[in-house]
Amino acid sequence: MKKVCFIASECVPFVKTGGLADVVGSLPKYFDKEKFDVRVIIPDYTCIPETYRSQMQYRTHFYMNYNGRDRYVGIMEMDYDGIHYYFVDNEEYFSGPGPYTDMFYDLEKFAFFCKAALSILPVVDFRPDIIHCHDWQTGLIPVHLKDKFAGGEFYRGIKTVMTIHNLKFQGVWDVKTIQRLSELSDYYFTPDKLEHYKNGNMLKGGIVYADYVTTVSETYAREIQTPFYGENLDGLMRARSGQLWGIVNGIDYDVYNPATDKLIERRYTVDTFRRDKVKNKIALQKELGLRDDPKVMMIGIVSRLTDQKGFDLIQCVMDELCSDAVQLVVLGTGDAKYENMFRHYDWKYADTVSAMICYNEAMSHKIYASCDAFLMPSLFEPCGLSQLMSLRYGTVPIVRETGGLKDTVEPYNEYEKTGTGFSFANYNAHEMLGTIRYAEQIFYDKERDWNKIVERAMRKDFSWKASAKKYEELYNIM
Ligand code: ADP
Ligand code: GLC
Repeated sequence: MKKVCFIASECVPFVKTGGLADVVGSLPKYFDKEKFDVRVIIPDYTCIPETYRSQMQYRTHFYMNYNGRDRYVGIMEMDYDGIHYYFVDNEEYFSGPGPYTDMFYDLEKFAFFCKAALSILPVVDFRPDIIHCHDWQTGLIPVHLKDKFAGGEFYRGIKTVMTIHNLKFQGVWDVKTIQRLSELSDYYFTPDKLEHYKNGNMLKGGIVYADYVTTVSETYAREIQTPFYGENLDGLMRARSGQLWGIVNGIDYDVYNPATDKLIERRYTVDTFRRDKVKNKIALQKELGLRDDPKVMMIGIVSRLTDQKGFDLIQCVMDELCSDAVQLVVLGTGDAKYENMFRHYDWKYADTVSAMICYNEAMSHKIYASCDAFLMPSLFEPCGLSQLMSLRYGTVPIVRETGGLKDTVEPYNEYEKTGTGFSFANYNAHEMLGTIRYAEQIFYDKERDWNKIVERAMRKDFSWKASAKKYEELYNIM
């Protein structure tokens, strides 16, 4: 039996700001339970809903010296959906309305978390063979294992995997600060280790010191070895390319299932979508005050509203797009410039545009189920889960060919009658608009072909089955 410990900053259903939480909360369920004992450590945020917090059991606590002070480290635990979770408790660090505060404070919070997460392992008597770290918040863990925690018998020989969900976020501040927060000696602050263009970089530590590095699609694994996508770490990514695996994400097929989803108006399958999917659209038009029209093409967006997701392209052609026979339904939060942009168009085209500037799980399911198409023109996209959810609900993705979008959406070919969506290559607003208009044309003029695209999309399998096998393969060679 191999023991694996996931360590991360977010995890569904406890706390989520994006796809990282979906992955950490679903992947562990899909390992072969006979061969792998996978447990998960996350912080015990006070923002975790009371329904879950009340189910946590207090295990024990101790004091850990961090940054010159003895700090409380409580250990809460819980079995949920067949997985054992440990929650690192420290109210000073993990209170507040969400998992993240400002960047400067987050650096200290997660530097503390890295040390605390490693420190609880002997206390709960769980000695993993492999620690699987996720994103910059856990970047110090592979470094600590070679340093502070290298001495004792307990930690000797533990292997590490560092998974990059988004290379853009690296946990960077000046060397002095990162050195103080990480409690690492001068030795580590050279350009081949944690120093990065004169700054200290926590993710870089993880990438340099982990035994294997993975990222969440094959295309992104290639892209981050180039200057355009490499976020100034492309040289390091090339240097580590021998231990760099791209493994595409899956989604939880139990949670995202149009045949059983309790959050949607009308459930449907690949055999009944032709009749039943539209009932969701009609219900959503009513709920959002959009014009009643079962025949109009409804385009959905569920996203963090940031530059990564290509919203400047959408902004550029919004008036042109809204002059077409389409309705646009947007759910998201993020940068004020995009929140306000969508509020404006919601006001300007009240009948056809609806913008919900909030985070709402139930509404996201309704959008995946109701829309005809889903727009995701990302500038870069390590994997992307929203397009997988759309495929699952027969909502045809329109995407830019980058990262995981390229690996998961097969562009429609009208001659060979293949494909599960629409895509364009260049980061160009009118190239995107042209692709949306091509999709409109198929939707309105070739209904049979459109429905075949929907059918192929729904028949695709992006459950974790195949990808969990690849992670197992990786764990097995370590
Ligand atoms: P990223 O992790 O870059 O934000 P992904 O596509 O991997 O992008 O994952 C986004 C996840 O967050 C999906 O599960 C999506 O449904 C969800 N999501 C994003 N914004 C919202 C929102 N405003 N309300 C509800 N769910 C959202
Ligand atoms: C990141 C990426 C997204 C990916 C998710 C889960 O948030 O932006 O593309 O799907 O992590 O791996």
